[in-house]
Amino acid sequence: MSKNRYQYNASALLQNKQVESNHFVISDAAFKSLPVPEAYIELFNGFQVHWVIAGEECKSLQRAQEIWHWLDTVNATRFDTLIIIGGGTTTDLGAFVASTYKRGLNFILIPTTLLGMVDAAIGGKNGINFNGIKNAIGTFTEPSKITIDTSWLKTLPKRELLNGWMELSKHALVGDELLWKELGHYTPNDPDINWDKLVKAGSSIKRKIIESDFRESGERKILNFGHTIGHALESVAAESKTPLDHGFAVGVGMIVSLHWSAHRADEAFNKSELRDASDQLKKWLINEDNGDPWRWSTSQNPSELWPFMRKDKKNTSNAVLDIQLIGIGEANWDCPLEKLDFEMVWDAAF
Ligand SMILES: NC(=O)c1ccc[n+]([C@@H]2O[C@H](COP(=O)([O-])OP(=O)(O)OC[C@H]3O[C@@H](n4cnc5c(N)ncnc54)[C@H](O)[C@@H]3O)[C@@H](O)[C@H]2O)c1
Repeated sequence: MSKNRYQYNASALLQNKQVESNHFVISDAAFKSLPVPEAYIELFNGFQVHWVIAGEECKSLQRAQEIWHWLDTVNATRFDTLIIIGGGTTTDLGAFVASTYKRGLNFILIPTTLLGMVDAAIGGKNGINFNGIKNAIGTFTEPSKITIDTSWLKTLPKRELLNGWMELSKHALVGDELLWKELGHYTPNDPDINWDKLVKAGSSIKRKIIESDFRESGERKILNFGHTIGHALESVAAESKTPLDHGFAVGVGMIVSLHWSAHRADEAFNKSELRDASDQLKKWLINEDNGDPWRWSTSQNPSELWPFMRKDKKNTSNAVLDIQLIGIGEANWDCPLEKLDFEMVWDAAF
């Protein structure tokens, strides 16, 4: 993988305008009424733009088809470049379209949410939802460039910052103890945060992991830390029509997984370090939206979550295969989590 693929300032964008091939933009319609950073106004004015209403619903075959049609209308060829500017839903949809149209054209990702900067835009996965299954159709295709510019975060709503903060925390917990310690000095809304530093560190963890396991046959699985439980919570929330953000659900999943990891740890030091990390995550989550998502999540019955956790096809007959932390910054994958242990640590965690 080319080291030049990642750029942490906007100047590259303007260079892109000088190249010969045609460039087309796909972006989040919310930016039509938000104060976008200066460099991008020029970009939106300089190229033809297809606007997308961001959100999970945009990751659909229908929206993909609309963009394929638009690319036909503007006579895009496979030598042209798509610039995709938005959060994770826009970049997942845009990258899927780019990787399939005319067997794939060049594309540049410009993530505008914290979650996009540290996670969704990194790693070459894209996808749309199909038949009620998230990311059921998609490809592994790397963009030619990823431009990460944290000035986008100025307009990001508080709850979206928390969503991204949870994925950033996850990266630190599985891969970088120093970053985890640094995050502990802040809350996600702290005005003193050096976003450039944190985003660079957070995205680098994912970059390093995917460099060694692009297609998720081994180590890349550790990026799912907290997600098996988090996804089960999201499924129960969806069934009962309770609003629950993905980042929040993953945060609760990490809290329980940290207790499970502490339960299995050999050393007393590691046990206490893992439980402290779980307390830190609780502090970030507990007051969100007047405490409603926290009260709802922690009042769930673990035996009702278990059937959703069992659905993952990688599981064995008796256990769920999950991610266990050995200590802060170090994780193992494919660790068997038994139902009784899950119920026990769920109760212990809150
Ligand atoms: N491909 C991957 O490897 C990968 C990894 C993690 C997550 N994802 C996907 O990412 C998606 C979630 O991404 P997301 O949380 O960025 O969601 P999103 O794209 O829906 O953005 C969240 C909200 O923030 C708004 N927004 C975006 N940028 C903004 C800005 N700068 N200022 C103000 N508002 C802004 C959007 O309009 C939207 O309302 C999920 O679909 C998930 O599956 C993909």
